[in-house]
Amino acid sequence: MVKLKQHEVTLEGKTLQGRSIRLRPMTEDDWDILARWNSDPEVLYYSEGDDVTAYTLEDVQGIYRSVSQNAFCFIIEVDSKPIGECWLQKMNLERILQKHPDLDCRRIDIMIGEKQHWGQGIGTESIRLLTEFGFLKEGTDMIFGCGIADYNIRSLRAFQKAGYEVVSKLKQTPGRKADYIYDAALTKEKFFENFRAADSVSPEGFRDELSEANRPR
Ligand SMILES: CC(C)(COP(=O)(O)OP(=O)(O)OC[C@H]1O[C@@H](n2cnc3c(N)ncnc32)[C@H](O)[C@@H]1OP(=O)(O)O)[C@@H](O)C(=O)NCCC(=O)NCCS
Repeated sequence: MVKLKQHEVTLEGKTLQGRSIRLRPMTEDDWDILARWNSDPEVLYYSEGDDVTAYTLEDVQGIYRSVSQNAFCFIIEVDSKPIGECWLQKMNLERILQKHPDLDCRRIDIMIGEKQHWGQGIGTESIRLLTEFGFLKEGTDMIFGCGIADYNIRSLRAFQKAGYEVVSKLKQTPGRKADYIYDAALTKEKFFENFRAADSVSPEGFRDELSEANRPR
């Protein structure tokens, strides 16, 4: 069976409240925490579109190993403790690929599994770090938060605070958990506009490494 595809990227930042956040590579040693978070019905209520209340360890390994083939998968750490996961993945949704056939589109997915850390700005900062990595280091054209349920205000707000705007509102078939799901997106152009306007939002390291190739003309 295919193993988790690892990378060597670590991203560091701070929440607006001054809390240090570290995104470190996900590894094959992380199954315990990933399985725990993915068997919490309350976490899954928000992170999954369908009515999933728990994933088995095999399911969890299958999901992350498969996603990691086309993504940078991270564990979110606060005070050196793992509290969640997130990834930047090549776009895999036809509805978005069809609209932007010539662009390098990616998606961000995120789950803070330790619920006591919800609503502390950690999601926003993690999305912001992945977004900077995507545009500054990967040269991505457009990044999305996909399929955000209408009842998931925290997720929608976290993407919006990181600069994303709702680009689609999709009606769901009756009986599903959400009446509508949203796709939120940020373009390279808008990102660099914001980046220049609020110079202070970017960590020093990234600013230095902003390559000529990635600067919009
Ligand atoms: C979604 C998630 C990543 C967001 O991260 P977070 O650290 O909790 O979010 P933040 O604290 O950065 O921002 C949340 C925002 O929503 C607001 N918010 C929180 N609860 C809210 C509520 N019940 N109603 C309205 N707004 C709410 C917060 O006030 C904050 O906005 P503000 O700073 O403008 O006040 C995290 O909550 C999570 O992992 N949830 C479970 C899994 C999930 O939903 N994954 C995403 C699937 S699309």
